Amino acid sequence: MKTDTVLAKLQPWFHHYIDSFPDPDADVRRNFELKRTHTARVGEEIRFLAQRLRLDAAETALAEICALLHDIGRFEQYYRFRTFMDPVSTDHAALGLEVIDRHDLLWGLNEADRSLVREAIANHNRRDIDSGLERRTRFFSRLIRDADKLDIWKLVIAYYNEEVKNDAVRIGLSLDNTVTAKVFDDLMAGRIAGKEDFRTLNDFKLNQIAWVYDLNFNCSLERVRERRYLQDIFRHLDGGLPGVTGFYCRALSFLYGNSTFA
Ligand SMILES: [Fe+2]
Repeated sequence: MKTDTVLAKLQPWFHHYIDSFPDPDADVRRNFELKRTHTARVGEEIRFLAQRLRLDAAETALAEICALLHDIGRFEQYYRFRTFMDPVSTDHAALGLEVIDRHDLLWGLNEADRSLVREAIANHNRRDIDSGLERRTRFFSRLIRDADKLDIWKLVIAYYNEEVKNDAVRIGLSLDNTVTAKVFDDLMAGRIAGKEDFRTLNDFKLNQIAWVYDLNFNCSLERVRERRYLQDIFRHLDGGLPGVTGFYCRALSFLYGNSTFA
């Protein structure tokens, strides 16, 4: 089956699937909508990246399939555990692969593309991409990771600005105005911090600043500059906390290279 035909069949299935959970209460419905909207926007981001990277129609459709299914495990995760915190519930990417198998969603793709989509989903939320991936799978894993971050930034900033009032975004983190030493040390050493070490919302914000080092394409960096994501996150951090301003300035100079940043 052609890749864009598979995509066209999966799009209505996605909405039908979300609406198929029995008796969702108001909290479940609200969080399902959060992820439905996130998925649609990750689709927009990935189309932008695909266009900028001059992917052909079949590759663009494959990228869109990755975007549509990357968080398919989030719905069952929230329904069963009432949280989006993987460390206290389950790895939502692994659960997504179970949903994909249960519904045999990728049957219309050839074997290579089927395995590519599965690997891209499995790798979308890992701290690092599996080093053993073959070139094409690695490329699509990088695409979905960038597209996902580009929308998560938008969502968390809307939450920090109190435009989105849904505390599930905060994944249960404390509002203490401190930074966890282990998280800060990891970030200063140039590593993305481990989710299991996050304790405060400040940890989460600093990690989102550090995501800039984990982007894979120049056009993703360009979007971060245009949208001023780092500046917006920093506005919601206490610059007086030890090391925070220096860390932010380093990330900004990486983002802008040698140009002046305003
Ligand atoms: Fe995800």
